Amino acid sequence: MVSSMLEDVLVAPSILSANFLTLGDDLDDIASADLVHYDVMDGHFVPNLTFGPDILRQVKERTALPVDAHLMIANPDQMAVRYLEAGADMVSYHLEAAVHAHRLVQQIKSYGAKAAIAINPATPVSALDAILDDLDMVLVMTVNPGFGGQSFIESSITKLRALRRMMRDHGVSPLVEVDGGVSAANAERIVNAGANVLVAGSAVFKQADRAATIAAIRDNGRRGLVRMA
Ligand code: DX5
Ligand code: ZN
Repeated sequence: MVSSMLEDVLVAPSILSANFLTLGDDLDDIASADLVHYDVMDGHFVPNLTFGPDILRQVKERTALPVDAHLMIANPDQMAVRYLEAGADMVSYHLEAAVHAHRLVQQIKSYGAKAAIAINPATPVSALDAILDDLDMVLVMTVNPGFGGQSFIESSITKLRALRRMMRDHGVSPLVEVDGGVSAANAERIVNAGANVLVAGSAVFKQADRAATIAAIRDNGRRGLVRMA
C-alpha cells in the first residue's frame, strides 16, 4: 500500500467571532492564517443570522486569503451560486440541507472553487459514502452549528478516525476540516485523529494577539500530524 502523509495543518479563523463593526481591522489581524472562515447563517437551518454574499464580496476586497464559505442555510441548492459569484474560494454546504448534493458539488467546481460538504454532529460519516470521491473537503462539525464559543464534542474524535478509514478505503484524500470548540489546547489530538484544516473563532478573536494564537494552533496541530498507511 502506498503511504501518504498529511502534509500540513491549515488554520481558518472564523470571523463569526470578529467585531462586525471593525471587521476590516480584524481581517488584517488574521493575515497570517491560511483561510478566512465565513459562517453564513439563515435563521432557518440554524437559529442565528450572520451575513450574506454582499459582505463576502467586501471581505474579498480586504483580505488576500482564500475565503472558506460555510453555508449553514436551508436552501444551498438555490443560494450557493450567490456566494460563488461573490468570490468564495471554497464552499461548504450541509448534507442535511441539500436536495441535490451531487449537482451542487459540480456547480461549485464549475466556478473553480473547492467543493466541501459539512456534516452535523449527529450525521455519521457513512452518509458521505456516495459523494466522498467528488469532494475537495469534508467539514466535520464538532459543535451543533449556530453559535461560536461552544465546547468541542468529544465523540467527534471517533468520527474523524472513521472518516480517515473511509478515505483510505476509497483511495481519496480530501481536506478534513473541523469546526467548533477548536483551540491551541486540543489542536494536536484533533489533527492526530485526522483533521488538517482547523477552524477557530472565539479561540482566535478573544485573544489580543491573534497572530500568536494562530501560530499556536498551527504549531500544536502540526504535532499531531501522523503518517497515514
Ligand atoms: C458554528 C460555526 C463556527 C464557529 C466556531 O456554527 O460554524 O465556525 O464560528 O466558533 P468557535 O471556534 O468559537 O467554536
Ligand atoms: Zn463554520
